[in-house]
Amino acid sequence: MSKQQGSQELSADMDLHWQKQANLVHWYKKPKTILSTNIDRWYDWFTDGELNSCYLALDYHIEQGRGEQTALIYDSPVTGQKQKLSFNELTLTVAKFADVLQSQGVSKGDRVLIYMPMIPQAAIAMLACARIGAIHSVVFGGFAANELVTRINDAEPKVIVSASCGIEINKILAYKPLIDEAIALADHKPNCCIIYQRAQLTASLTPNRDFNWQELMARAQPIPPIRLKSTDPLYILYTSGTTGKPKGVVRDNGGHAVAMLYSMAQVYGMKAGDTFWAASDVGWVVGHSYIVYGSLMAGCTTIMYEGKPINTPDAGAFWRVCAEYKVNALFSAPTAFRAIAKEDPLGELIKQYDLSALKRLYLAGERLDPATYHWLKDITQRPIIDHWWQTETGWAIASTPLSCDNKTQGIQTKAGSAGRPVRGYDVQILDNDGNQVPAGQQGAVAIKLPLPPGCLATIYKDPQRLFSGYLATYPGYYISGDGGYIDDDGYLFIMGRTDDVINVAGHRLSTGEMEEVLSSHPAVAECAVVGISDKLKGQIPLGLVVIKNGIQASDAELVIILKQTIRDSIGAIASLKHLLIIDRLPKTRSGKILRKTLRQMIDGDEIEIPSTIEDSSVISELSGRLVNINQKV
Ligand code: COA
Ligand code: AMP
Repeated sequence: MSKQQGSQELSADMDLHWQKQANLVHWYKKPKTILSTNIDRWYDWFTDGELNSCYLALDYHIEQGRGEQTALIYDSPVTGQKQKLSFNELTLTVAKFADVLQSQGVSKGDRVLIYMPMIPQAAIAMLACARIGAIHSVVFGGFAANELVTRINDAEPKVIVSASCGIEINKILAYKPLIDEAIALADHKPNCCIIYQRAQLTASLTPNRDFNWQELMARAQPIPPIRLKSTDPLYILYTSGTTGKPKGVVRDNGGHAVAMLYSMAQVYGMKAGDTFWAASDVGWVVGHSYIVYGSLMAGCTTIMYEGKPINTPDAGAFWRVCAEYKVNALFSAPTAFRAIAKEDPLGELIKQYDLSALKRLYLAGERLDPATYHWLKDITQRPIIDHWWQTETGWAIASTPLSCDNKTQGIQTKAGSAGRPVRGYDVQILDNDGNQVPAGQQGAVAIKLPLPPGCLATIYKDPQRLFSGYLATYPGYYISGDGGYIDDDGYLFIMGRTDDVINVAGHRLSTGEMEEVLSSHPAVAECAVVGISDKLKGQIPLGLVVIKNGIQASDAELVIILKQTIRDSIGAIASLKHLLIIDRLPKTRSGKILRKTLRQMIDGDEIEIPSTIEDSSVISELSGRLVNINQKV
């Protein structure tokens, strides 16, 4: 690791600020040290503190007299089930599942891979790991077997926890065959799998390797939380980078707990007893931070919704849930509201529900386009807060501050902006040389070190990747991978990724990874995958493929096969619906694909043809097929 990291010191003001925030956490041992530098020359927060994240999310609230309060609501339009678990009930179940894990040999520091649909057992498994100091790694249920393989090989889990199936509107998706396939393909083999059998599908269990969740739970006894160091890892969450190998973002316990409590109060304005609904999935960082840890640590009621914004059963689903459970703040992705707006443009369905409890709506995962912002503001008559963050930070880097104006209707938001940097983040816009640019000018969105508590503690098993991926470009800064600008009033506008990452329906995916999958097909000579804009999903991938000479299959057959390869390797969420077979790609003389030129052709922008281009006639050859392709597809 470079000597440059960890050298930026915390100002006295920020040191005091984080000390005050840390005092709000119920530590077993209160930390005296706020920020220190570790052997990787990266940051440790509250290093001498001791705590347990599961205790803070559950047992602590029972001690505070909130045992009977609903902790978790499960609402599943796809199965017709609804369930409420109080803090007492959830704590008991989690404490028993912690015993189940321990009986399977899981102890502090062991990894547990969780591959679950949106059912309470997903949160129960996560919290049970936290209770015994095991490190969970949740994999989004929409990922295919190959994605599981990469994560199994990297995290080397002792146990895999899963369910017999997931349900996508009316499709039952068997999980167990994917797990079996992944384990067969992986170099690392877990000791066992614990499978929650759902009524919709019973999975067949492999003798001596797979166990039935319900049977193990029937024999389990509740066990207490253990003391952990602030810096002990809580979880690993893999996220897409620019290559096929996802990055295992590691989150600590102490910094995370402080960040969760701080953000629940200061970003979301929530207090114990409120109901907070993050309409996301436990497989994403939003689910980790605000379906599970943040909401529960703050003593709020959280909601696990196993459904979609539309079609389960209609575009009024979000409003029905908000009304039924008196949701105080709703958090989702812009794509979800674009889907609702498409089905119910005049907002007729929202009128059927009493949303008097709902104070504000929060949006993240992709840029909130001004049209959706205005539509949502009009139909809800509530503050619409776009806020910007990443798996790496774990909580909002920018948002609209509530504390400057506590009257909820007076919050000053700007359409198209993700608000202002949240206290703790020093966000700056830099040019190619690392100099700050003037207000209004676009550049790379960077955060001056140190990052606040709760941000990535390291990249699992690869601390060097933290340096090369985020810190090497501008010494003293973390580079977000997003481009944007700050206006004269200090509002941040995030305009999109500057790397090969795309956001498809709020899901972060790597075009590099898709290219690796396509290139691995024997018929493919070379390929490029670029993000094109999509009215519903924000972005979708477009594959451009050059086929080897002498391949017998027709272009139409190859298109079907290659699309299926992406579904099988990455998952249906990759949404690779558009794939063109072309004769050649625009390249430099040294063989580098000219992606920027491709994007300019697709967007119909003025094309800058680099002097290094191998053969400029490829541009005219392709332009007819690519110009405004997003309007053609
Ligand atoms: N498990 C298995 N498959 C899944 C899945 C999951 N958890 N989530 C999505 N998929 C599948 C879908 O079934 C679909 O498969 P298909 O191509 O066979 O029909 C495919 O992946 C694409 O799904 P999706 O991206 O959800 O697109 P859609 O067109 O079905 O729905 C939206 C569009 C906008 C309604 C939907 O994307 C949505 O609800 N987005 C919100 C995302 C979100 O909350 N993100 C959180 C970030 S904060
Ligand atoms: P993820 O790590 O999956 O949460 O994805 C993080 C990426 O999503 C960011 O780097 C951005 O590109 C994008 N993103 C998240 N929130 C916003 C937002 N409010 N505005 C614009 N882009 C966003």
